[in-house]
Amino acid sequence: MTQHDQYLVGLELAGRKVVVVGGGQVAQRRISRLIASGALVEVVAPDVTPAVEGMASAREITWTPRRYAEGDLDGAWYALACTDDPEVNAAVGAEAECRRVFCVRADDGRLGTAVTPATGRYDGLTVGVLAKGAHRRSAAVRTALVEALQAGVVADSADPVLPGVALVGGGPGDPELITVRGRRLLSRAEVVVADRLGPRDLIEELGPDVEVIDASKIPYGRAMAQQRINELLVEHAKAGKFVVRLKGGDPFVYGRGFEEVQACTAAGVPVTVVPGITSAFAAPAVAGIPVSHRGVAHEIVVVSGHVAPDDPRSLVDWQALGRMRGTIVLMMAVERIAQFAAALIEYGRPADTPVGVIQDGTTRIQRTLRATLGTVAMRIKEQEISPPAIIVIGPVAGLSAEG
Ligand SMILES: C[S@@+](CC[C@H](N)C(=O)[O-])C[C@H]1O[C@@H](n2cnc3c(N)ncnc32)[C@H](O)[C@@H]1O
Repeated sequence: MTQHDQYLVGLELAGRKVVVVGGGQVAQRRISRLIASGALVEVVAPDVTPAVEGMASAREITWTPRRYAEGDLDGAWYALACTDDPEVNAAVGAEAECRRVFCVRADDGRLGTAVTPATGRYDGLTVGVLAKGAHRRSAAVRTALVEALQAGVVADSADPVLPGVALVGGGPGDPELITVRGRRLLSRAEVVVADRLGPRDLIEELGPDVEVIDASKIPYGRAMAQQRINELLVEHAKAGKFVVRLKGGDPFVYGRGFEEVQACTAAGVPVTVVPGITSAFAAPAVAGIPVSHRGVAHEIVVVSGHVAPDDPRSLVDWQALGRMRGTIVLMMAVERIAQFAAALIEYGRPADTPVGVIQDGTTRIQRTLRATLGTVAMRIKEQEISPPAIIVIGPVAGLSAEG
């Protein structure tokens, strides 16, 4: 084994042949990154994992279903010997050496002419770490570096994001339930327009130079407030700022997010939409209620309860909901739960249908209760459940992890 340091390099593999000998788990892990680099990946192996087979069916790679034979590296720029047979790997390595093709030996890195660094990616950066074969060390350092970048601990002097608005779904409240992209854009924001719901802890982590506008405190009635929010997004973006509109859950699930997209588009402001984890599914999940379950629920309807069933503005077909057997997820429904439960029972849903209620799901103050359609209104009152809460109606709300 050489005492020299290895030379870390970035290969431009797009459009170039890369041969992977072997199709097991080790090969599979390497192949995804090779595909992302644009390499023309050719896998030679009698058997491959279902995932590798899927990549071949999708024509992301080509797969030759046989054992390695000398000559397979013809025309290759790079090779990976990933079989569990050291003799085959050695033969691949020998052919690579002859052809002056760099070759990774997955069974013993020291025997190859190249090694795969532990890599991580963050916002256009690729971090690679080599530790002379100490794989755990390189992986741990890689992970720490990426986490430091994500948390903004390492100063990353990337150019600011282009002016415009990012409509970011912040998830249901737990700051760890925002997407990686949402978190990254938030760390680049110059102005943040935030809602009452969503990951408030993340707002506290923003730098002092970030202007935070609390949209829940914008005065006027409901419609005016939305119009003012739209105006603020446009005004700041037009002033050249990168604006993050941080919303609870998913921006398009009863979040009026599309109105904001339309307002920005009408004003010629570019908008990026980052989906979020909706509380409609996340709150039940953390409370142990799956919104679907094999053999129990084949339909999930997410319903807004912001108007009563008999309100002329209602667009909900309560008769149809009363007939269905699957899962109904009610949002914004605490105040009128007695009317919704009564309508569902009237239109055919049995009064003993299980119901789960989750208040402040995924946050430190989460509360849950289980009831039935017949008792839920009374139980919510008794327990003083208040918004925000998700109400899950259907047999799934009667399931428990114990079976
Ligand atoms: C205006 S809607 C916004 C929904 C959001 N866009 C989403 O996808 O979660 C507000 C309603 O979402 C629900 N909600 C939001 N966050 C919640 C949470 N953490 N726990 C329970 N319900 C929540 C409540 O029903 C609340 O009344």
